[in-house]
Amino acid sequence: MARKNKIVENWKLLPGVAPTQMDLRILEFQNRGKLCPTRNMIKTPQQITGIRRAGALNTAVLDEVAERIREGMTTEEINRIVHDFTIKHGGIPAPLDYEGFPKSCCTSINEVVCHGIPSEDVVLEEGDIINVDCTTILDGYYADASRMFVIGRTTEQKQRLVDVAWECLKVGERVCSEPYVFVGDLGNAIQKHAHANGFSVVRDLCGHGVGCAFHEEPEVEHYGHKGTGMLLVPGMTFTIEPMINTGTWRVFIDDEDPYGWEVISDDELPSAQWEHTYLMTENGVEILTH
Ligand code: MF3
Ligand code: CO
Ligand code: CO
Repeated sequence: MARKNKIVENWKLLPGVAPTQMDLRILEFQNRGKLCPTRNMIKTPQQITGIRRAGALNTAVLDEVAERIREGMTTEEINRIVHDFTIKHGGIPAPLDYEGFPKSCCTSINEVVCHGIPSEDVVLEEGDIINVDCTTILDGYYADASRMFVIGRTTEQKQRLVDVAWECLKVGERVCSEPYVFVGDLGNAIQKHAHANGFSVVRDLCGHGVGCAFHEEPEVEHYGHKGTGMLLVPGMTFTIEPMINTGTWRVFIDDEDPYGWEVISDDELPSAQWEHTYLMTENGVEILTH
């Protein structure tokens, strides 16, 4: 039997317009059965300007958190810092009321992998490692980034986890130092780096397109095989946000979690994550949340 034609015709030529170099380059991949973006994933210069501005505010928000985070503070206080600073500068915190999420940022401590909900009852203690994840809307444009903070001094292993998670983000970024690479190329490199250091990569959550909405295509998995996943071409904006676990990559959400958001490592060992929003250009990615 003939093999099914697996070509997905995401990229289409504009009728009546001569194909550009970029068209030809993308179609060459597409005709070889590679997954290519659709045209609406390519941001216009005006959209890029907007996302860049959202990124600048997002960075300022996280800088403010970095300045004020300390032992003894509740995660609700972090939420308030993020919320008030964002609003004061004309932005909107995207998490608030997003699919039932009750707060303005995510605060994920130790074994919480992501989507931790800020609370009056959670106090930062010496040795905690915490991810603060902020997504900022400015004039309708979105930027998404997160950082790890170490409260006081932590164990050597937790510090190494935080450092390796950072390195994983940088490894992904380095793979994207030229356009026309695949999501699977960066996922593969991240996975190798995590494993070489004895850690695992969370599979149930991934990075994503971002800019005109909170979560857009493509999915950016942080594991996998080279040459798989979507082709990344100039004009695409997306996050890389590897979640690195000390033990198993498996995660769960507690049945009794009132909101059903908080994601926890299965073995309840620590997890770490860093995230930036990127623009793919002719010369590779540019960080929009620096
Ligand atoms: N900022 C997270 C991400 O990196 C998503 C959080 S969804 C929320 O994609 F509702 F919890 F905010
Ligand atoms: Co994200
Ligand atoms: Co995020």
